[in-house]
Amino acid sequence: MKFYILTLFPEMIQSTLSYSILGKAQEKNIIQIECINIRDFSKNKHGQVDDYPYGGGPGMVMQAPPIFDAYNSIVSNIQKKPRVLYMSPQGKTFNQEMAFSFSKEKELIFLCGHYEGVDERIIDTIVTDEVSIGDFVLTGGELAAICIIDSIARLIPGVLGKEASFQQESFTDSLLEYPQYTRPSIFLDQPVPEILLSGHHEKIENWRRQQSLLRTMKRRPDLLEKANLSKQDWDWIKSIKES
Ligand code: ADE
Repeated sequence: MKFYILTLFPEMIQSTLSYSILGKAQEKNIIQIECINIRDFSKNKHGQVDDYPYGGGPGMVMQAPPIFDAYNSIVSNIQKKPRVLYMSPQGKTFNQEMAFSFSKEKELIFLCGHYEGVDERIIDTIVTDEVSIGDFVLTGGELAAICIIDSIARLIPGVLGKEASFQQESFTDSLLEYPQYTRPSIFLDQPVPEILLSGHHEKIENWRRQQSLLRTMKRRPDLLEKANLSKQDWDWIKSIKES
């Protein structure tokens, strides 16, 4: 899978994504990440890519032509036009389901805005998905793109060590993850839950499922409605609520 990022700060993205699991995935060529500097497509001798907003108001707006030329430099070599994700607080809030959907694509283009955003006509012309990472405002789209690329890339086969790693984690089935422990077995007088040392796999599975349900009930009750729960899960939830 190839990620293209249209940005004014390519180093910010390239360096952040070169560590750890995604760094290795790039070395092994399972994923490719290419940043395109929008400024390289400025026709202005000072490399200007922004201008005052029509109608007045604070800040600057990123101009459409350099973004469009940067975009064309990518798609002119690709048969099927890739989806273009514009990072914006006005977008649809990103979630795990969207991560799964995007991870099926062969190529994705990310557009990172700065200042007061980009000229609306570029959104109308090339953007297929306007995406936000939450109800807060960042100084630019780069950090949002990094988060989203990380979450998509780890779903691509071969990126994580074990295929199963992401099948048993938060949000995959709309439940939060159970707590994890490792050595030492006692830390600051707090022992690891005894069941985990029992070697009884079925009981451990049960306990973990109940911990997931409990956490989700307490922290994110909204997720329970979407979760794929068995009769046994519901019976357990009922018994907890009654106790
Ligand atoms: N750019 C600025 N704020 C953002 C947000 N919350 N999500 C995505 N892109 C952004």
